[in-house]
Amino acid sequence: MIVVFGSTNLDQVGTVSRLPEPGETVAGGTFSMAPGGKGANQALAARRAGADVRHLSAVGDDAFADMALKLLQDGGVDLSQMRKAHAATGIAMIFVDAEGENVIAILPGANGTMSPEDADRTLGNLTAKDTILLQQEIPQAATRRALDIARAKGARSVLNTAPFLADTPDLAPLADIVVANETEFALLSGRGIEELDAAMDEWVAKTGRTIVVTLGPDGARAASPDGKFAVPAYKVTPVDTVGAGDTFCGYLAASLDAGMTLEQAMRRAAVAGSLACLNPGAQPAIPVARDVDALV
Ligand code: RIB
Ligand code: NA
Repeated sequence: MIVVFGSTNLDQVGTVSRLPEPGETVAGGTFSMAPGGKGANQALAARRAGADVRHLSAVGDDAFADMALKLLQDGGVDLSQMRKAHAATGIAMIFVDAEGENVIAILPGANGTMSPEDADRTLGNLTAKDTILLQQEIPQAATRRALDIARAKGARSVLNTAPFLADTPDLAPLADIVVANETEFALLSGRGIEELDAAMDEWVAKTGRTIVVTLGPDGARAASPDGKFAVPAYKVTPVDTVGAGDTFCGYLAASLDAGMTLEQAMRRAAVAGSLACLNPGAQPAIPVARDVDALV
């Protein structure tokens, strides 16, 4: 089973012809709301990839909570241990322009109340057969406790370094598999993008664990104690890249959980991430396994 311990948001998306500059007003465009949040997106992606998934998270005591959980609910993700906080449901305010470029501001609300106690309360029955999937949209103390519990129980841990936080370099070596985009890995390793290869080797030498770096249209690369390899993306003309990284992470975890090798899992995740760019929004754009597997 995949256990996600992380965020849930309701995304407020404005599609505009051009992103406004600070202090500028841009008129015109369309508005929509859709379930999002990196934790919830990755939970749904793992589910659409075919895994049994439990999502451990907090939503607010407001009208947005049910909307934020709608697609997880419909998709059959286990929400039995969700917590309702005396706070607002997490919100992401997103603008996407005609080229698919975006800017995002996150208002964490209930996600900011996630604590080490939440990890203690919900992760007691984690087993060595489970994979825990973590991101950086809840307080780092909660994520750290979840990583400690995963280690103690022998569960596989996958940490996505998005969005990158000050403490991310402390946390990342605690995870079995780190998934970072190029920018995040440059911050994590302290090395420029042109030194990617050497920096990935260094990560493995230092931690003895696996690093996966996603490269957008160029696919993804991995370095682990078992070796190094690269997988291609599926070529698409992106409409909206929001949720592509989450789709990659969810598919990666689900595919490993299904017994695939890291390389097989990455091939599948890279295709899924590409397909997620073909439709607007995060969760509504996550592809189903049938469509992904036809292209792997
Ligand atoms: O990774 C995409 C997600 O980031 C969006 O769904 C939004 O909620 C932001 O958290
Ligand atoms: Na998308």
